[in-house]
Amino acid sequence: MPAIVIVGAQWGDEGKGKIVDIYTEHADMVVRFGGGPNAGHTLVVGNDKLVVRLVPSGILRAETMCVLAQGMVIDPRSLVTELDELERRGIHTKGRLLVSDRAHVILPYHVLVDGLREKGKDAIGTTKRGVGPCYEDKVARRGIPLGAFRDPKRLRELVARALSDWTPIIQHLGGGEVPVPSVDETLAAIEEARGRIVPMLVDSQALVERTVRAKKRVVLEGAQGTLLDVDHGTYPFVTSSTPTAGGACVGAGIGPTRIDEVVGLVKAYTTRVGGGPFPTELHDDVGERIRKIGAEFGSVTGRPRRTGWLDLPALRYAVRVNGLDALAITKLDVLTGLDEVKVCVAYETKNGRSEDVPMDELDTVKPVYQSFPGWKEQLGAARAMADLPKAARTYLEFVEKQAECPYILVSVGPARDETIVLRDPFAL
Ligand code: GDP
Ligand code: IMO
Ligand code: MG
Repeated sequence: MPAIVIVGAQWGDEGKGKIVDIYTEHADMVVRFGGGPNAGHTLVVGNDKLVVRLVPSGILRAETMCVLAQGMVIDPRSLVTELDELERRGIHTKGRLLVSDRAHVILPYHVLVDGLREKGKDAIGTTKRGVGPCYEDKVARRGIPLGAFRDPKRLRELVARALSDWTPIIQHLGGGEVPVPSVDETLAAIEEARGRIVPMLVDSQALVERTVRAKKRVVLEGAQGTLLDVDHGTYPFVTSSTPTAGGACVGAGIGPTRIDEVVGLVKAYTTRVGGGPFPTELHDDVGERIRKIGAEFGSVTGRPRRTGWLDLPALRYAVRVNGLDALAITKLDVLTGLDEVKVCVAYETKNGRSEDVPMDELDTVKPVYQSFPGWKEQLGAARAMADLPKAARTYLEFVEKQAECPYILVSVGPARDETIVLRDPFAL
């Protein structure tokens, strides 16, 4: 009974919410192992749409235990807002949503700093949710684990210490005109949320590891995507954590030998939100059409997502960095109606053609495209490969071969059933 890791193979928003929701129908536990409220994972059931940021995408399955593991950074106010929204929709979380006492707390000063930096010349287009500054605190060993919520005196000391380090930075970034929040204000802002979160705190590492050891079905849900990884992404235009598969082990606290399968999610084209290189970006009507038909607007910030063709060197890179066993390809339906569909097979670089990703010069490479005939048929009703038009199959087959990784699933619409399932992920 396997532990499956699901990661984004591009720059995020590949459809992780939908696929994790499908997988967790038969899962005992779903674990978010990294990131924070920068994520926005969309779940569609019937006419209902729910976007979760911190809560794992297994939450709609009443029998599934949901865990926010210690690799995450958690804004207490965002978490309770999300819990209230779930409750309002009749989705009960009591007793089945547990939070690591070693995940780190995002406090108002992290959000403030993130926002101030984004006003400056070094802005990279973050989600301004305080995620980067919170991870900075963790690595600088002045962060605040959620466990401190159990001890208000310790919490106050930790906040005072971190704030004394942030104060000169806030003064500098704000030109002396932005008030620095006091310790009292900071604590007051989270007091109500603190009381509600304490009963949910657990040693998530022990819990997850025990569940995996008991051979239960565990889904480790990634956030963001491979090219946003702080080590392996388009640095510095990245998030401050490890969304790649290795991050699942670190963030959840289980060893690599406990993982049975790693599934990578890839859109049938590419999107990116925020700044940074994007070799296959389209600035024309086709890009606009993909944005419109694919509803490519940030689920957290509402920002229009940049759109472009699928990038095979980047996909092969993601297959290698994550050690992917299988690919789930999403949003194939969005390409319906185009006369031709292009895919980047290599880059022209200043040193010649490259089929790898020259990360250091990604902003200057030129994509080399191969073109495929488009198709006109709507794909939402397809439940088997044979239901797809020949042109769509030809495109898929080419991508699979070039990616050197087999498909496990093809998604042809946002709803649960708009999916071609090629193999049961748990039947390992
Ligand atoms: P995530 O961050 O990876 O979970 O992805 P998001 O939820 O931010 O963005 C993916 C969007 O695409 C959501 O609006 C989904 O409902 C939608 N979606 C997922 N799969 C498909 C698909 O196969 N076709 C279409 N048209 N939409 C999809
Ligand atoms: P999901 O899980 C897409 C991007 C931001 C920005 C960079 C750094 O929904 O796929 P941050 O706020 O993390 O410091 O921003 O990372 N980014 C995402 N882009 N999907 C996400 O999450 C993202 N999370 C962060 O746009 O470029
Ligand atoms: Mg998203």
